[in-house]
Amino acid sequence: MSLEQVEKRIKKLKKEIEHHRYAYHVLDKQEISNGALDSLKNELAKLEQSYPDLITPDSPTQRVGGKPLKDFEKVEHKVPMLSLFDAFTKQDMRDWENRLLKIRGGNWSYFCELKLDGLAMSLRYENSMFVQGATRGDGKIGEDVTPNLKTQESIPLKLRKPKRDELQQVGLTNKQIINIQKVLTSGELVVRGEVIMTKKSFENLNKKLSQENKSVLANPRNAVAGTVRQLDPQVVAERDIAFYAYYLVTDLGIKSQDKLIKLLSLLGFKIVKHYKLCSNLEEVFKFHHFCQDRRQKFPLQVDGIVVKVNELDLWDFFGVVGKGPRYMMAYKFPAEQVTTKLKDVEWQVGRTGVLTPIAFLEPVNIRGATISRATLHNMDEIKRLDIKIGDTVIVERAGDVIPKIVKTLPGLRDGYEQKIKAPNKCPRCGGDVEKISGEVAYKCVNKDCYAVNLRQLIHWTSKSACDIQGLGEKVVEQLMESGLVEEISDFYTLTSGDLSPLERFADKSAENLVKAIQDKKIIDLNRFIYGLGIEHIGSETALLLVDNFVNNYKGGKRGCIFKIKDVVNYFASVDLKDLQDLQDIGSVVAQSIVDWFGNDKNILVLKKLEKNGVGIKWRKQRDEIEKLKGLTFVLTGGLSSLTRQEARDKIRQLGGNTTYSVSKETDYVLIGKDPGSKYRKAKKLGVNIITEEEFRKMVNG
Ligand code: IVH
Repeated sequence: MSLEQVEKRIKKLKKEIEHHRYAYHVLDKQEISNGALDSLKNELAKLEQSYPDLITPDSPTQRVGGKPLKDFEKVEHKVPMLSLFDAFTKQDMRDWENRLLKIRGGNWSYFCELKLDGLAMSLRYENSMFVQGATRGDGKIGEDVTPNLKTQESIPLKLRKPKRDELQQVGLTNKQIINIQKVLTSGELVVRGEVIMTKKSFENLNKKLSQENKSVLANPRNAVAGTVRQLDPQVVAERDIAFYAYYLVTDLGIKSQDKLIKLLSLLGFKIVKHYKLCSNLEEVFKFHHFCQDRRQKFPLQVDGIVVKVNELDLWDFFGVVGKGPRYMMAYKFPAEQVTTKLKDVEWQVGRTGVLTPIAFLEPVNIRGATISRATLHNMDEIKRLDIKIGDTVIVERAGDVIPKIVKTLPGLRDGYEQKIKAPNKCPRCGGDVEKISGEVAYKCVNKDCYAVNLRQLIHWTSKSACDIQGLGEKVVEQLMESGLVEEISDFYTLTSGDLSPLERFADKSAENLVKAIQDKKIIDLNRFIYGLGIEHIGSETALLLVDNFVNNYKGGKRGCIFKIKDVVNYFASVDLKDLQDLQDIGSVVAQSIVDWFGNDKNILVLKKLEKNGVGIKWRKQRDEIEKLKGLTFVLTGGLSSLTRQEARDKIRQLGGNTTYSVSKETDYVLIGKDPGSKYRKAKKLGVNIITEEEFRKMVNG
């Protein structure tokens, strides 16, 4: 290729690459694959290597490069970078409007756009070329971070030259179009906006940092601040941050913010697509509400909307007061962060045995939802936060994730705080714990630990035990996986705010589940005993134990609500022999009961249940007229009008008994659909066989 051809090729390559940058970053369109784009960039880099004289500052190859800086140069902002006044309520907004009306009556509209939670930046272009990017600093003097910003493709190295008809479509006048063309060829243009990191990129960055055993960053905003102020542009190049433009300092005679924002997009900048031109405050409120509802779904961290008087001529009229302009207002969303106290930390066993610390908090309201738990991730996070039990902490509910503790306030300690220790025994099964080498996690070595615990929780919520609607196996597993529930007492402190961030839970279903749990807080004693999952104790044995307890219990009347404590005291004091004397209770079952109530860990679970408001009631199991007194039933096959449990309950209520195997002592075998071997045996032994229909007559007649 001749020099001239090379020059032409380089020019074309640069134009093509810029075209795809604009399409991707500004228009959100990807026209060619990353691989294809990379090969164009490679070709350009190779040509420039052979012809270094042809390298220009706006070449995409100039994005990464330069040596690490020693320090940042100071930059003076000729037009100060102001901040915004905050409004939190509709009334705040009305007061603001009234203040403006006092300064100047009349009509104006409001341009509303998302308020990005990032870092304000001022970019300077000379003759369309990017020459300087500076942070806000104190508003008057910022820091020159140009080499870092150059690494980011969302920032055009050269301004795009909009076509005349594009500008006309925006509604710009000929005079304004001429102004734009003039300043693009020979003039200075200063653009302001926000540098942000998407929530996804932030998560990825933190994942990477934690894999490298480096400290993780608290939020996307901090991540941006840390990135932009990196002294090594190479590091910045690897980070995924983006610049969104929202204001043009240079006066081009444009009359309104809605036109200005469209112009910024045509000049090659990313703009926030969620904006709305409102003709009055009512419309502003609607937009605010709309954005607040979708807040979690935005890929960027957003903390409100910015409401700007749309007519730029009025800006001079209203002017600036103190730290900010009168003609703009940050209309914030309700807080995502609040302070509360860390009450306790419990270690949850995950599917792979990894132990995760879960923070139990003094319940607090964040954005209308009560939060009582947060994840603490691991021991390193506990160290990083320097957190102790009893500390006042800042909790954040951000995105569709479980709330997390972002900061401790050690200045508020009173000396009674307790250190959080890594567990040396598994809190669940008591098994050994090992620290996984090279990782921050601790692990329970007992492979069955998780599964046993899960089964226990499922058993507690099942139909024959507490029978909690909406707490099926899948949901129980989900609660356990997310660290919300570790033992049965945890169900009773769940709040809708704890549940709503979980997948498949909306605010309404979260509320419904919490209600269903609370509705079943007072449990029939037999169901309670069965629900504990004591080995060998099925629902029939549980009923026998209830009879025994009630007959011997001195403290209360039949039908009253018992305290868990009473039940515990009773079973902790009965001895093996007393139990064995009960009909149908053999030595294995008796031993199992004695062992269970003799285990401190189990007693602790019961105490926690009591603390969390769970009570026991004893419902009369038998009617006054005991129609089936002394009769023994066996059930087989599927019943249609009632469940087996209901049939058993009915039989007991009427003075009868049920057993599981047919013998000569059996009085009736109740058969349903497709009866099994019990039916055959009954026939062989000549035991009475009755159908469901006959049973109903017997019971009701
Ligand atoms: S307009 C007077 N528009 O919020 C400066 N600012 O809390 C306001 N911000 O310093 C410029 N999103 O960095 C404007 N859509 C937006 C914004 C926005 C975020 C930042 C800006 C400002 C800060 C004030």
